[in-house]
Amino acid sequence: MNHAKWIAHFQRNREHRPEPNWAAPFVLPESVLQPLRLSIAEYQLGDGGGPACLIAGDAEQFRSSSDAMRQIVDLWFAEEREHSRLLGCAVARIGARRVHAHWSFTAFLACRRAMGVRVELQVLLLVEIVSTVYYRLLRRHCPDPPLREMCSLILRDEAGHVAFHRDRLAAAGVSNWGLGGTLWELQFRLFGLAAAALLWLTHGRCLRALGAGRLEFCREIHRDLSRFVRRLGRTAQARTHPTMPAAQLAGQTA
Ligand SMILES: [Fe+2]
Ligand SMILES: [Fe+2]
Repeated sequence: MNHAKWIAHFQRNREHRPEPNWAAPFVLPESVLQPLRLSIAEYQLGDGGGPACLIAGDAEQFRSSSDAMRQIVDLWFAEEREHSRLLGCAVARIGARRVHAHWSFTAFLACRRAMGVRVELQVLLLVEIVSTVYYRLLRRHCPDPPLREMCSLILRDEAGHVAFHRDRLAAAGVSNWGLGGTLWELQFRLFGLAAAALLWLTHGRCLRALGAGRLEFCREIHRDLSRFVRRLGRTAQARTHPTMPAAQLAGQTA
């Protein structure tokens, strides 16, 4: 993996981040505000509001595999902390109360701690993919400009996080080819759907109140999971056949 590329990406991504105008006047009907308050407050806890680091028992082995990887992991989690800060501003803006514990967050942490760093990284990746759909729907349907601007900032970061995971997995020899790849893809999609179901269970009420439907949510989840698998295949193939033209690779993995 090209570590220098990712360090440069995270450093560059710190620039040009206009702060949403949190003081702008807003009018949102109470029917939307109530579920939105709960949802944003829970996300403020879940997205960088807890321990902003890898917490699996063997996490340090992965983080300390090289100085560059340590730097990348720390830069990645610094962005997660920033998400929590932005969401904290949104919590204050819409008059929500901060949440300090939630059963889904407790289960999320327990799962990450118990399973080892490889599983923790996949759990984080899947949460990032399904959260991308959440923020995208929020940005599409929420009429409040500062909240939409916040979603844009977070979506920009999450796109980088997902791409980093793709690169990391391809470098570790993971792809969707052959029997091993098919089995990997199957479990990836299954756990992805489980993460999506959990998200809909806890935040579906808010998304529905804003006008986002279940079908729209499912379509976006399916699209993002499929896109990740397809691009992983392409990245893995580009590593194996660095001289093959990009168009040919795209044809083989589309
Ligand atoms: Fe995040
Ligand atoms: Fe992330």
